[in-house]
Amino acid sequence: MRELLDDYLNWSSQLRKALAADVLDPVHLDVGSIGGIAFVGMGGSGVVGDVVAKYLEREVALPVATVKSFTLPKYVDSGWLVVAISYSGNTLETLAAVTEAVRRRAKLCTISSGGRLMELSEKLGVPRVYVERGHLPRAALPSMLAAAVLLLNKLIELKVSTERWVEVLKDPEALEVAEDLASFLVGGLPVFVVTEDIYPLGVRAKNEVNENAKLTCKVEVLPEWGHNDVVGWESTPKDLVKIVVLRNGAGGLADFAAEYLRKLDYSLKVLDVGRGSYFETILYGSWVIGLASVLLAGLRSVDPESTKSIEYYKQFVQSYLKFYA
Ligand code: PA5
Repeated sequence: MRELLDDYLNWSSQLRKALAADVLDPVHLDVGSIGGIAFVGMGGSGVVGDVVAKYLEREVALPVATVKSFTLPKYVDSGWLVVAISYSGNTLETLAAVTEAVRRRAKLCTISSGGRLMELSEKLGVPRVYVERGHLPRAALPSMLAAAVLLLNKLIELKVSTERWVEVLKDPEALEVAEDLASFLVGGLPVFVVTEDIYPLGVRAKNEVNENAKLTCKVEVLPEWGHNDVVGWESTPKDLVKIVVLRNGAGGLADFAAEYLRKLDYSLKVLDVGRGSYFETILYGSWVIGLASVLLAGLRSVDPESTKSIEYYKQFVQSYLKFYA
């Protein structure tokens, strides 16, 4: 556990190095001339696509898609930019979707630390960023997020400022906040309630609890929450769940949800992850929740590093893909 905890504790230095990475074989794409941007990737790599896509949705007048499967939506054609992210470079869903992108002559760019995605990218000479090896994919979030933003800043002149990113990962109180969160989460199934603006953080939190703490976990998103989840809380057993409301600075809908759940007597914690800008908020929130998920693994006496069920699934996919090949 210590090694993974240290990896998370060192996120600021991982990020500092990652922000100095080179974009290899860059090209310049005029935003007005591209049909849309699709992010392709699974798990700890795929969530990077969710994070950047949510930012782009609000900042760039282009269709944006996230693909977490073997195939691309029909509308992704040669006019689209496809950003493929796989830490290992060997994830079959990602490689299958990339093959499809190449077949459709989409504009491909990639992020990986090696594997077949790296080999293919070199062969094709597409724009790419290599990220530092030696981490578990989920612990390499700072590297992959930095790479995605560097790529888009270069390719479509996105102009995202990364100036304060490292700073938020140096918060001296983060470990204490994470310890608090981990002790709160013991003994129930975690449920993260988030507002739509930081939905990717909810996904990330769920994935971290799944993979590090070996627990199932749920994400509920406002305002949609108010049209279904809210009813589910009318009679869900109180001792089953531990609810964390992720608040992005000013409360609004998140405060309403917390108040409602408190009135119903649920065990609840409000975690304010707001750090000014969108990316800083996502980085800080992912850091604290990542640390908490590793600490929770310790409190539950499970190994946060091994993900044998993912390996089991990946073996199945390998035989399944052969069957369809
Ligand atoms: O965090 C993890 O270990 C997983 O969710 C992986 O990210 C996922 O299996 C995909 O692998 P990769 O990130 O190497 O493409």
